[in-house]
Amino acid sequence: MARNRLTPNRHLPFGDRQEAPFYGKDILGVGQFRRADLHDVFGVAHEMREMVARVGSFDLLKGKILANLFYEPSTRTMSSFTAAMERLGGSVIPISEVHYSSVAKGESLPDTVRTLECYADVIVLRHPSLGAAAEAARYARKPVINAGDGPGEHPTQALLDLFTIHEELGTVDGLTVTMLGDLKYGRTVHSLARLLCQYDVQLRFVSPDSLRLPEKVKAELDEAGIRYEETEALDDVLGQSDVLYVTRVQKERFDDLAHYESVKGAYVIDRDTMSRAKPNMVLMHPLPRVGEIAMEVDDDPRAAYFRQMEYGLYVRMALLAMVLGKA
Ligand code: NCD
Repeated sequence: MARNRLTPNRHLPFGDRQEAPFYGKDILGVGQFRRADLHDVFGVAHEMREMVARVGSFDLLKGKILANLFYEPSTRTMSSFTAAMERLGGSVIPISEVHYSSVAKGESLPDTVRTLECYADVIVLRHPSLGAAAEAARYARKPVINAGDGPGEHPTQALLDLFTIHEELGTVDGLTVTMLGDLKYGRTVHSLARLLCQYDVQLRFVSPDSLRLPEKVKAELDEAGIRYEETEALDDVLGQSDVLYVTRVQKERFDDLAHYESVKGAYVIDRDTMSRAKPNMVLMHPLPRVGEIAMEVDDDPRAAYFRQMEYGLYVRMALLAMVLGKA
């Protein structure tokens, strides 16, 4: 977040919240979150869940405005940020069809965010370029939340993924988490693997050889002392997995469509796969799925991907309240 003479006054209206760790901050990557921070976010997410169940919507962020700026398609991320803001009494400027905004006239990202922050209190940005959120944050005076920067990170998804694991299994420590699919371009995997470095976990990575986890992320796992294995065969690790996190092959990131066609159907989770998994394994997917999980699995109690979306609402409500200084 850039600072200039228009930077908002850090004085908060009630209580001493100067210590609130995310007040006024950008959320660009999961590296910003220590374990105590995660505990805080999840504590607030629990409160949000209770409040939504009890009253549906309430006025914590009344008068606040969020700008949803999406240069790539989105269903869940965009609508859950909208729902989160509206359930907290705030409102949203939706810019999802950038083709109809001044972006189509050639406006730069810095100029677009400096426009939106004149009207909004927080900007949620999804963009196809690695580092776009960080670039936007350098120019913006208001907080920028990274909703996916190309093949880089997707920190709010990783937070909701971690919350899901915690809610479904009651703990994160001691688990074996297997990530499957497009580990090269899948930003949700990059963020979740990094976030799990805060815990005592073992990781398993299953992918075609050409879609392995980037060296940079593996180096971070090594640095954190995380034990992990890579394989092309799910059956090598399925039986030991407490969580199976499935991802879509990210077609839009491939230069060579023939390569995409050769790997897109590499894995399909079906009833037969589930019959070989632990009885309490949690099956997750950030969605959208395009064939990686057969619909016949949806009724399996271990299929958590629809619950995962709902958890995302509470986590995003918590993050907005924290960034805007109300939690
Ligand atoms: C993911 C994304 O955009 O990275 N979607 C999401 O936010 N739930 C996953 C994907 O598009 O495959």
